[in-house]
Amino acid sequence: MRHNPLALGQTSIIVLFFGTLFISGCAPFSHLTWISPEGHDGPQASQCGACHVEQYQEWQGTAHAGAFTSKTFQEAAGSPAKEECLRCHAPLDINTGKTEARFFHQKEGVTCISCHLSQGKMHGPHPISALITPHPVQGNDPFYLSPALCATCHGETQTQWQKAAAGQQIRICQECHIPTVQRRAAKGTNLFSKILVSFDEKFQTRSHAITLENMVNFPGSVTITTRALNQGKDAPALAITISNNLPHDLPTGTFGEKEIQLALIFLKEGVQVAEKTVVVSNEKQPLAAGEIKKLQIPLSPAATRADTLRLNLERHCESRAGRPPIILSATIIDSVSEAFH
Ligand code: HEC
Ligand code: HEC
Ligand code: HEC
Ligand code: HEC
Ligand code: HEC
Repeated sequence: MRHNPLALGQTSIIVLFFGTLFISGCAPFSHLTWISPEGHDGPQASQCGACHVEQYQEWQGTAHAGAFTSKTFQEAAGSPAKEECLRCHAPLDINTGKTEARFFHQKEGVTCISCHLSQGKMHGPHPISALITPHPVQGNDPFYLSPALCATCHGETQTQWQKAAAGQQIRICQECHIPTVQRRAAKGTNLFSKILVSFDEKFQTRSHAITLENMVNFPGSVTITTRALNQGKDAPALAITISNNLPHDLPTGTFGEKEIQLALIFLKEGVQVAEKTVVVSNEKQPLAAGEIKKLQIPLSPAATRADTLRLNLERHCESRAGRPPIILSATIIDSVSEAFH
């Protein structure tokens, strides 16, 4: 038996308490699914965070949470922001398969209810095991495990992905972008709620921290090979081949002034002797899925005397000043001097 008699005793009191409340028509949690008839008021993320503590903490600070407040979005969308932009940057309900603007708590951007609240119920991917759910739940909804959810807003990337897949089985968005976690859907914050949630099953699910930082150095996403040219002669150079092994463009998405740069750092006995940065691609001229780019980089005499070369492939974004570049791939070659002498 999983639970001790005391917990069961207390639980039945709680069941009775909530049961009485619900039966008496005074549902204490009805605000969680309530949207005003004119659509100007509705639930807030922090209210969900009272029980879904981890999901709320993970989501805060992500690009999704900042999709409306982002400075570049504010500048581009006008004031008040155009309704057509709010469709994806502050949406109401994507479960319907189409997107429409939300006219309350817009600062929350792509928020809990955007992805989960539809037709008065909270939709999610798992079977429901809770004794009592404070809001109506529609479990086992396959939409949450499918790339179709991401495609509601990332249509352009989805088209690239479909082309790369070309009928084969390849990884879906979630598998690369969102780490898995093991947990219960809700967390207790006081004695009563702790006992209540102890009945819920734990399951494998995914974090809500959908950020590029969370997937740094994704193995094999981009590969780089180098070869020395004109060894020992007048015009030494490096031939570099970069392959985009991702199932979408590098970078993907047409907004935000993104640039992929290759930084070459030449070291001799641990001290930097030369440095060079080349632009590999940007959102206007991305590398398509599977595309290979060849670069020829002339080297200074100092660079050819280096013993070690560090290659960092970095994603920069002008519109997010202050965000450190994301390292997509880092390679160290420790036989540079032999190649040239
Ligand atoms: C961009 C869409 C999106 C947003 C925004 C979002 N979720 Fe989710 N949520 C998902 C997806 C997708 C899953 C399924 C993850 C899996 O199991 O692969 C999920 C799963 C869940 C689950 C069940 C699994 C778990 O993590 O325990 C809960 C509860 C949940 N979300 C609550 C929230 C709350 C609360 C917020 C706001 C703080 C939120 N979600 C914001 C897409 C979203
Ligand atoms: C008073 C606590 C409480 C609050 C507040 C709350 N929930 Fe829940 N929620 C639960 C419980 C309990 C379950 C059922 C968990 C289970 O059976 O595993 C649940 C289930 C869910 C699920 C289904 C998860 C799955 O595994 O498929 C989603 C999605 C969800 N809630 C989203 C939300 C959102 C969005 C809000 C805010 C608008 C919210 N919840 C507010 C307690 C709460
Ligand atoms: C409701 C619309 C919507 C849905 C659904 C959605 N996204 Fe997004 N996503 C956005 C918007 C808008 C941005 C850009 C926000 C910004 O940078 O200000 C974004 C940004 C991102 C980023 C960039 C993150 C970063 O750290 O800069 C990634 C990665 C991403 N989304 C992946 C996903 C994945 C994977 C899914 C499916 C699980 C998904 N998105 C579902 C609208 C959405
Ligand atoms: C094989 C792993 C993989 C799969 C599958 C994948 N991605 Fe990515 N994605 C990455 C990597 C690695 C990056 C970082 C490179 C970059 O920033 O361009 C990235 C970048 C992104 C970005 C941010 C681009 C930027 O620089 O701001 C978005 C948005 C995105 N992916 C959405 C998606 C969507 C939507 C899907 C599904 C249709 C998907 N990805 C499938 C690995 C993957
Ligand atoms: C179909 C959904 C959709 C619509 C409609 C939409 N966007 Fe976006 N927007 C996205 C997604 C997804 C991203 C992030 C990935 C990318 O660049 O594609 C994004 C990113 C952005 C960014 C970069 C955010 C940052 O912080 O760097 C800006 C700016 C932006 N959008 C402005 C707008 C404006 C202005 C409109 C209205 C004219 C608009 N968007 C309409 C989905 C959408």
